[in-house]
Amino acid sequence: MDILVAGGHGKVALRLLALLAGRGDTARGLIRNPEHAADLERIGAVPVLGDLENDQTLAPHVRGADAVVFAAGAGPGSGAARKRTVDLGGAVKLAAAAIETGVRRYVMVSSIGAQDPASAGDAMRPYLEAKAQADEYVRGTALDWTIVRPGSLTDDPGTGRVRVSTELGRRGPVPRDDVAAVLAAVLAMPSTTGVTFELFGGDVPITEALGALESPRDPR
Ligand SMILES: NC(=O)c1ccc[n+]([C@@H]2O[C@H](COP(=O)([O-])OP(=O)(O)OC[C@H]3O[C@@H](n4cnc5c(N)ncnc54)[C@H](OP(=O)(O)O)[C@@H]3O)[C@@H](O)[C@H]2O)c1
Repeated sequence: MDILVAGGHGKVALRLLALLAGRGDTARGLIRNPEHAADLERIGAVPVLGDLENDQTLAPHVRGADAVVFAAGAGPGSGAARKRTVDLGGAVKLAAAAIETGVRRYVMVSSIGAQDPASAGDAMRPYLEAKAQADEYVRGTALDWTIVRPGSLTDDPGTGRVRVSTELGRRGPVPRDDVAAVLAAVLAMPSTTGVTFELFGGDVPITEALGALESPRDPR
């Protein structure tokens, strides 16, 4: 598969790109800083230069992919405006490019808490509002989407075991290694299409956990 990961130099994205390249996929990472290219090449990924906020369209980068993954984020140091331009605007722009170029598969890295941004504190609310709106937009398209909502990301080593749930509103940590492994598995499991699920560290092997997710009645 040819997979384009937006936010290609992010901590989850680099782990995902390494897994994809390692299993023989064409792993392309969208980055805005040319100095990050060498880090992608080192793990067998293909750097693609593009900016989620400033490029008018991402179509030239998306064209030819079998799937896209949104793993970018404005980050904790950014204000509400960049939550809207990256976490919302970037995700929407990626979906629009996928639609325009006929790429059907879209995997979104969302967040726990996106089911109810209103109950979040002032610091988290703009981020969760952006995530909620991005997810809603993607779910409203005819793309083959999966929305993955990880808990608090850690840099602990992955275990290959997780807890997933389509009942939203839970809390807990999850290693970035395991988020990346789940994303790689999701890309290889069409049964996850049309599913929104939360993801935490746990004790169920990843493919078993994903296989047990309930398929929606009307998968899109
Ligand atoms: N932190 C948590 O606990 C948590 C929990 C749940 C979900 N998440 C979500 O999980 C995802 C991955 O997290 P992470 O820790 O791997 O993120 P990260 O390391 O902060 O990576 C985010 C990436 O987005 C890129 N980016 C920002 N603006 C961009 C733009 N205009 N154009 C292109 N790329 C741009 C950044 O590139 P630059 O280096 O160029 O800025 C960076 O490489 C994010 O969507 C995050 O919101 C996080």
